[in-house]
Amino acid sequence: MGILKNGELWKDVNGEPIHAHGGWMLYYNGYYYWYGEDRRENYYVSCYRSKNLTDWEFRNHIITTESKMEGYYVRTTLMLRNKNGGKINLERPKVLYNKKTKKFVLWVHVENGMDYHEAAVGIAECDSPDGDFVYYGHFNPYGYMSRDCTLFQEEDGTAYFISAARDNADLHMYRLTDDYKNVKKLVHKLYQGEYREAPAVVKYNGMYHMLTSFCTGWAPNQGKYACADSMEGEWSDLSEIGDSTTYQSQPAFLIERNGRMLYYGDRWGGDGEKYFASSYVIYPLEWENGKLTLKFVNEIDPMAYLNREGKI
Ligand code: DGJ
Repeated sequence: MGILKNGELWKDVNGEPIHAHGGWMLYYNGYYYWYGEDRRENYYVSCYRSKNLTDWEFRNHIITTESKMEGYYVRTTLMLRNKNGGKINLERPKVLYNKKTKKFVLWVHVENGMDYHEAAVGIAECDSPDGDFVYYGHFNPYGYMSRDCTLFQEEDGTAYFISAARDNADLHMYRLTDDYKNVKKLVHKLYQGEYREAPAVVKYNGMYHMLTSFCTGWAPNQGKYACADSMEGEWSDLSEIGDSTTYQSQPAFLIERNGRMLYYGDRWGGDGEKYFASSYVIYPLEWENGKLTLKFVNEIDPMAYLNREGKI
């Protein structure tokens, strides 16, 4: 059965819990690759793959404390352990495939510890979607703080990085360089003073849709959405979506297939050990009476829904 129960820590095909929080999905060569945070042992980012969005095969711990580091940038800090030899904190990893360079490029929120003072973005790269990524270090784009983040790729390969800046007050959008390894232009300072976190973007019906959360630590809050005709064009004001807790979740990423959209969210357990009780939810995302609507469901077969076989 392809049904996943929302709010459960789903298992991979070997019966092991899937650790891919604050994650991302990349469709490549017939597989969905699911990347996400894995805070166990010396792991940072894990990668799973599936053809049907339900049966997930663990592929690799693509970034760990032992990952190869290379000083690609002049002014970045190469660090996968803190000064005491302990782990740092990598959150919300996102990966794009660059057709020009034939590389998989990963962007991730990097913190020295759990005080969130570093507010930086780290970059890593690999020849395959699930190999050992080489870590190029972290930096503050144009000197700005950069916390919760996402990526978006246009069909022509133009890519964008969106992240929370100014202590989360503003949401910045940057166009990436052609090799996806740096920012090329700050194109927007969106929703200044609105404290939007957990951005996720999807293109649907020729329109760009962005979902975000408010800023309340691990506790869920009211989700909001905005739309634009182009990434660099004018974004609409924010409108509420879902209920006051976004049905007990915070956005991770959005996917589109066959003219249907799905919202993937984290239902966080909380700080410290509670983090490991974090689970996932999938909700259909549909336009209804002129509003973008998140449909609450207890369970879903994601591929059946996307293929229009699923009843919700
Ligand atoms: C909300 C963010 O969206 C999460 O990724 C994480 O950083 C928590 N805050 C930490 O409180």
